[in-house]
Amino acid sequence: MYNIAFVGAPGSGKGTQAAAIARKLNILHIATGDLFRQAAGRGDELGNKVRSYLEKGELVPDDITIGLVKGQLAASGSKGAVLDGFPRNIRQAEALDEALDGQVLDRVVYIRVSEVELTRRLSRRRVCRECQATYMAGEGETAAPLCRRCGGRLERRADDGPETVRKRYAVYMAETTPLIGYYAARGKLAEVDGQGSIDEVNGRIMAALGRQETLT
Ligand code: AP5
Ligand code: MG
Repeated sequence: MYNIAFVGAPGSGKGTQAAAIARKLNILHIATGDLFRQAAGRGDELGNKVRSYLEKGELVPDDITIGLVKGQLAASGSKGAVLDGFPRNIRQAEALDEALDGQVLDRVVYIRVSEVELTRRLSRRRVCRECQATYMAGEGETAAPLCRRCGGRLERRADDGPETVRKRYAVYMAETTPLIGYYAARGKLAEVDGQGSIDEVNGRIMAALGRQETLT
C-alpha cells in the first residue's frame, strides 16, 4: 500500500509522471482535473457547474472536490493511489488525511519547472479526446494526428489558451504553493527538478521515492 500525491504548476508534468508511476506500482491514478473534464462533458447540473470553473481556470469548490476524491479513494480498496492535482490547498490536504481513513500519505512529489518552460509545454499540448493520453504537438504541426494508444482524435485542452494558463498559474501560486512548506514541515516532500526529458524526470522521481524500478 503506497499513497503519493503530485504537486506542481500547470504543465509541470504531474499527469505524465503520475500515470507512469501508477502503472509501474500498479496502483490507482486519481487525476481530479481528468475527472472534472469528464464531468463537464456529461453536461448535467454538476458538470455545468464544474465546467464554469475549468473555463475560468479557477479551483472547483472544495466541497465538490473533496467529495469526489473520497469516493475515488474508497473505490481504490487498500492498494494505495497516486493523486494527481489533489490536494491543491491546505484545506484539501487536511481533508485528505481524514479521507485516507487510517492509511498514510507516504510522499508528496513536488515537480519544479520554470514558468517559461510551462508556457511552452502548454501551448503545444494535445490530449486524446477518448483516453486522455497526453502528447506534445510537433513544431509547426497543422494536421491533427491520432492517439498512438487508442486511435482517438487529439485536441487542445479548452483551458490551455494563454489567458487561462496565466490565470491557472496565478491560482497555483496563491493557493497551492503553501503546500510545499506544509509537506516539507511534515517530512513528506520530495522536490524534483522537472526540466529535462520525461524519462530523466521519471528517474529522478523514482530515486526520490526510493524505488529501483525503471519506468520503461
Ligand atoms: P488539472 O487538469 O490538474 O490541470 P493543471 O494542474 O493545470 O495541470 P495540467 O494538467 O495542465 O499539467 P500537468 O502538470 O498534468 O502536465 P502534463 O503531464 O499534462 O486541473 C484542471 C482544472 O481542474 C483546474 O484549473 C481546476 O479548475 C480543476 N481542478 C483540478 N484539481 C482540482 C482540485 N484539487 N481542487 C479544485 N479544482 C481542481 O504535461 C504538460 C505537457 O508537457 C504535455 O504536453 C506533456 O506531454 C509535456 N511534458 C510533460 N513532461 C515533459 C518533459 N519532461 N519535457 C517536455 N515535455 C513534457
Ligand atoms: Mg494534468
